[in-house]
Amino acid sequence: MTTVKTVPVKTSQEGPATSLNVHGICHSVSSMVNPEWAEATARALLEEPLPRRWSHTQGVAGTARTLASILGDNADLIVAAAWLHDIGYSPAIAVAGFHPLDGARHLRDHEHADQLLCCLVAHHSCAIIEAAERGLAEDLVSEFPAPPAELADAVIYCDMTTGPDGQRTPVTQRLTEIGERYGPGDLVTRALTRSAPELTAAVSRIARNMVGS
Ligand SMILES: [Fe+2]
Repeated sequence: MTTVKTVPVKTSQEGPATSLNVHGICHSVSSMVNPEWAEATARALLEEPLPRRWSHTQGVAGTARTLASILGDNADLIVAAAWLHDIGYSPAIAVAGFHPLDGARHLRDHEHADQLLCCLVAHHSCAIIEAAERGLAEDLVSEFPAPPAELADAVIYCDMTTGPDGQRTPVTQRLTEIGERYGPGDLVTRALTRSAPELTAAVSRIARNMVGS
């Protein structure tokens, strides 16, 4: 079995976590992971105001559960990140108008979530590229260091192989759908064009790991 390289991580909503940054990479050492709390938190923020986003989120979390065999001790962390990755779209917490940053800030400031979980949400699916387009890259990286690449890949895989209604979908179709939804002149589409090679490569890396597991 091939196992994604892990860092000593667990995460929870149960009080502030102990975290450290090594060479600009977000690591953490904290108490317990709690995917059930993550699901309840996402449901409270998304289900009613954004039902389609909630459907997508449920699908992303379902995809995350399929990665357990390659994630080892980080399986629950990635399921939690999958539940929470899009909470920043919720009108209840959208402040900056950039959902990875709004979601991560909410988790940090109001849920006292583990730093690595916050970093996974802040950087999900190459968010740094869209942050740069929005002039928010400095805010993003100064507040939330990049998570380990293997874990970022896992979240990309879950998000980029799950469609807007929660259905499994090939990454190429997912990228096309997002581009069509936002339109050719949109900032999101522009960022997506720049991040597409990395998103596709990350999905391939995880898929290869799954085959070898
Ligand atoms: Fe998503």
